[in-house]
Amino acid sequence: MTDTAIAWDTYSQQRPERRPTNARGETTWFNWTQYPDHGPGAELLEVDAGSRVLDLGCGKGGNAAHLAAIGVQAVGIDVSPKQLAAARERWAGTPQLHFHQADAVRFLQQDRVGFDAVYSVYGAVWFVDPALLLPAARERLRPGGRLVFSQRPPVEGCYGCQASYIPRGPDDEPLVVKRWDFEPADWETLLEEHGYANVEATVLPAPPGNRTTGTLIVRASA
Ligand SMILES: C[S@@+](CC[C@H](N)C(=O)[O-])C[C@H]1O[C@@H](n2cnc3c(N)ncnc32)[C@H](O)[C@@H]1O
Repeated sequence: MTDTAIAWDTYSQQRPERRPTNARGETTWFNWTQYPDHGPGAELLEVDAGSRVLDLGCGKGGNAAHLAAIGVQAVGIDVSPKQLAAARERWAGTPQLHFHQADAVRFLQQDRVGFDAVYSVYGAVWFVDPALLLPAARERLRPGGRLVFSQRPPVEGCYGCQASYIPRGPDDEPLVVKRWDFEPADWETLLEEHGYANVEATVLPAPPGNRTTGTLIVRASA
């Protein structure tokens, strides 16, 4: 197994399952943010039933399962076997939902069908060099198809490749994965440089409460 897969397997064991229902009593839902019951939903993808949509770094699969529940052909890929095992167990038997263990860029380069939308929620788009990921995603999107991703906004002054630490036991060194942080305007420039149109990057404010970090949401068309 790669160091990346080992790191994300470790992370997987620290993360709880998605709740059985959300505040509205729904059993599936789409959440772009780090807060429950907050922010926009699947409408950002601008897809209909029958569309084919890819989740890059799907984790335990809750967002892809929601898309499948509304009739979308949902494909979730992730490098972590443990994340995928949890996804397959939780969403077993859901029609039109497929999970694959793969690295994001490799999967995009090998897919031969194409997608109506590609998205990532705190997922692979955050953890892969955009110089590799943005062209690979654009190549797989049908004309006009949407690339949408969310992640934590950057810490002021900390831009480009940053280290993320995944804790282990008290006597063990944490595992390190790389992530890519930019201000919204710099994401817009990067996407435009890679040939995307209708690019919009904004920070959605946190919901009322003690926590103040918003969510960076970036949208673009192929
Ligand atoms: C912070 S988790 C978010 C998971 C999920 N999207 C969610 O909202 O719960 C990041 C996920 O991205 C996956 N990931 C990281 N790098 C990846 C890569 N290069 N290719 C595919 N998946 C990757 C990790 O295994 C992990 O499941």
